[in-house]
Order: sequence, then C-alpha cells, then structure tokens
Amino acid sequence: MDGKFLDNDIAKVVEADRAHVWHHLIQHAGWTGADPKSDPRIIVEGKGMRVWDQKGKEHLDAVSGGVWTVNVGYGRERIANAVRDQLIKLPYFAGSTGSIPGAMFSEKLISKMPGMSRVYFTNSGSEANEKAFKMIRQIAHKRYGGKKHKILYRDRDYHGSTLAAMSAGGQDERNVQYGPFAPGFVRVPHCMEYRAQWDLSGEEYGIAAANAIEEVILAEGADTIGGLCLEPVTAGGGVIPAPDGYWPRVQEICAKYDILLHIDEVVCGVGRTGTEWFGYQHYGVKPDLVTMAKGVASGYAAIACCVTNEKVFELFQDDATDPLNYFRDISTFGGCTAGPAAALENIAIIEEEGLLENTTAMGDYMMDQLRALKDKHAVVGDVRGKGLFLGAELVSDRASKEPVAEKAAQAVVADCMAQGVIIGMTNRSIPGFNNTLCYSPALIATKDDIDQIIAATDSALTKVFG
Ligand SMILES: Cc1ncc(COP(=O)(O)O)c(C=O)c1O
Repeated sequence: MDGKFLDNDIAKVVEADRAHVWHHLIQHAGWTGADPKSDPRIIVEGKGMRVWDQKGKEHLDAVSGGVWTVNVGYGRERIANAVRDQLIKLPYFAGSTGSIPGAMFSEKLISKMPGMSRVYFTNSGSEANEKAFKMIRQIAHKRYGGKKHKILYRDRDYHGSTLAAMSAGGQDERNVQYGPFAPGFVRVPHCMEYRAQWDLSGEEYGIAAANAIEEVILAEGADTIGGLCLEPVTAGGGVIPAPDGYWPRVQEICAKYDILLHIDEVVCGVGRTGTEWFGYQHYGVKPDLVTMAKGVASGYAAIACCVTNEKVFELFQDDATDPLNYFRDISTFGGCTAGPAAALENIAIIEEEGLLENTTAMGDYMMDQLRALKDKHAVVGDVRGKGLFLGAELVSDRASKEPVAEKAAQAVVADCMAQGVIIGMTNRSIPGFNNTLCYSPALIATKDDIDQIIAATDSALTKVFG
C-alpha cells in the first residue's frame, strides 16, 4: 500500500464510513458499537489479483471485486490513462449525439458479436435490461396492438435491482418486501439438473427444461409473449450452466412463436466464461438482444450496453413520419465517455494478453481442483461452472441433497476471508438455498492463485464441517 491513508488518517475514514455510508446488501446493526472488530471493511488499494484493506491486510480476490467485475485485475495504468486522456478531451455529451470512444468501442464490440449490429449505451446492468424490456414492449405496441408484451424470465435468474428488473427476478428471497412488481413478467422453470424437476439426465434433461418454457408459452398464449430473458449461465442463483440440449431447443421455441431472445451477459460477458467473448457463444445461440455490464470495462468506469441485431433495430425504423415511432429512451450517464474509453482498453488487454485462453485453461484447472475438493469433503455436493466462473454447492447430505444452513456457508466464506482469500456465496437469493460458494477470479489468474484459493477453501471446509 502507498501509505496515504494509514495510521491516524484511516481511523477518520473508518469513522466517516461508519457514520455516513449505507453499504450495499449489508445489515448495519453490528457496526454501530465501539468494538473495533465491528469496523466496516474498507478496501484501500488493489494490484493484479490482490487487494489491501484499511489494516494493510492483503487479500487474494477470488471474486473480481466482489461481484464478477474487475476481470482484467487491479492497477491497470493503461485503462486509467485512456480514461484520463478522454476526460480531459471530452467527459460527457448526451447519447443523442456520438462520441469518438463510443463509436470505436461499438465497432470493436460488434466485431466480437457476429449477428449483432447496434450498441445502446447505458450505465448499469439493471438499466441495460430495462432497455431491452422497453424495446420488447414498444415492439409489442408498434406491431401487435400491445398484446405481445409479456416477458418470460427464469426461476433462479437475476436481472437487476430496479423494480422492472426485479419483476423479471427469479430469486424470491431477493424480492421479499419490495413488491408489488410490474405486470407482464412470467416465470419459467430453471434448468438446473442437480436439483432436477424431471426424472431425466443430460441432454434429455436439457430438452425437458426448454420444453417447460414452451408449456408456459402455450398456457399464457404465444401471441402474448414478446421476449424471453435468460442468463447464459445463471450467476447469483447458484452458478448454473444449462445441460446439453437446452439452448438449441430454446432457440427453436423462440423462432416457432416469434419471441425475441434476450441474453443477459451482465456477468458472463466479455471473457468470463473463456474461449468465447460471451457466454451464449459457447452454445451456438443467436440472440436478438444482449445486455452486458460488469466486465465490459472491468469496473474502471461505469458502462453497460444493450446490444441488438439489425432485425430489432429495424423494427424502430419503419415509419419516420410517426413522431412516436423510435426508441424514445435516454440514459444520462450512458453519454459518459469514460466507459467506452475504458472498455476499449479492457478488450485490448484481453486480446493482447491472451486472457480468453488463460480463462479456459485456468477455469479447467480450477474445476479439477474443485472436483478434488468434492472427493475429499462430503459436504461438497456439486461443482459447476464455465471458465473462471465456478460454484460449489454445499449439502449436509449427499443423498437427499439437503442444503447446508446459510450460516454454515457464511462461516466458510468468513474463514477464507480470515485466511486472506475473498470468495463469495449465493446471498439471500433462493429461500433455503443460499448454499453455493462462488468463485470468479480475474481472467489473469495463475495456477498459484488458484492453488491458494483452493487451499483456503479446503482448510475452511475442514474447520467448519470437520
Ligand atoms: C445476471 C445479472 N444481470 C443484471 C445484474 C444487474 O447489474 P447492475 O448491478 O449493474 O445493475 C446483475 C448484477 O449482479 C447480474 O448478476
């Protein structure tokens, strides 16, 4: 650490934080006393895979900034320099006009997304998803007299914290106490084979899970359904890749009923799953809308995008004489130029350092290590994931798959933290099923980093479960 905020200064920072900052997703009750152990944690500095807290303690960050974001790691001066240069040249202008980094990043992004053609800039994953929902709704009004307005979302998926995004939220515990939600969002079953809903396996299971979507469509009336929104790999709902057979059938169903396929790549997008730039690209999916946020600029600037194919874009071009016949939407901070300036450097780093390849290699290595943990610890019921996006589901009994108590999973996370390794877990997401440990180290992770993450988990599992 550079020492700027050490000793007495840092005590002032902690006090200011304790007095005034309302942290995300945190119960503050424990922080109000004078006990220094109840100090809020402040992360002061980061370099590569590591961050340092206010006490100078080093941590290996196995979750890329806590929520799958800092994909190229900390301390990237070239991103900071590109943002600085751009801010001095032009920090902002509303998105009804163009900018140099906006145009150049769009071209670069589209070159990674065959079949897609237009980039709509916004500033958070939730907002990007809202844009997609609004596009689908407006198309319903323009083409189908408003009837084809319903949006399907999947059990266990998450699409954001705003009220419409929560209306498409498949994580019931997250939604408790925030309703009522927006009408016109309809749930379809999840596709998680480990917690099977049908007595099938492998490809047959995948096809059955996709057919379950068709059943919902038929029950609702296909002429009422405008869009289907899915995560390529469910993230906060338990790190769930779909079984074989799922995606081709999903694609068929969307084509059959003229339903726009919206893929939420907020977590998977821009390299996290390895080899391909986007999660959906592993499965041959041809989406109509793709939303992305977290890893787009690795958190160096806020940027999110709703990317569409030309078919969607053209649906808004058909009658220029109608004053309402275009996408009448704005996102103030979608006009910040720091986002695309940072995102261009982020993609360049991934290309130049071969990080898609590293993610595949290290993801495979980490999966092997997690499988070894499963062999060693009966409490590890299942390990899943794609690339450097992995989860380990903890169960108290392998046969019944009874989930461990949330507190027990939290104890594993806390023990890793005490060892200087930050891992995550499903958090107040699915009632009774907040039992999956989550791993998403930066795409620069080495074998040594992964060994340290696995060793910490191994030791924590032994301590908590014996
Ligand atoms: C799959 C997915 N979609 C959307 C979001 C919302 O993104 P944001 O927090 O940037 O609004 C998240 C956030 O965790 C997410 O995991």
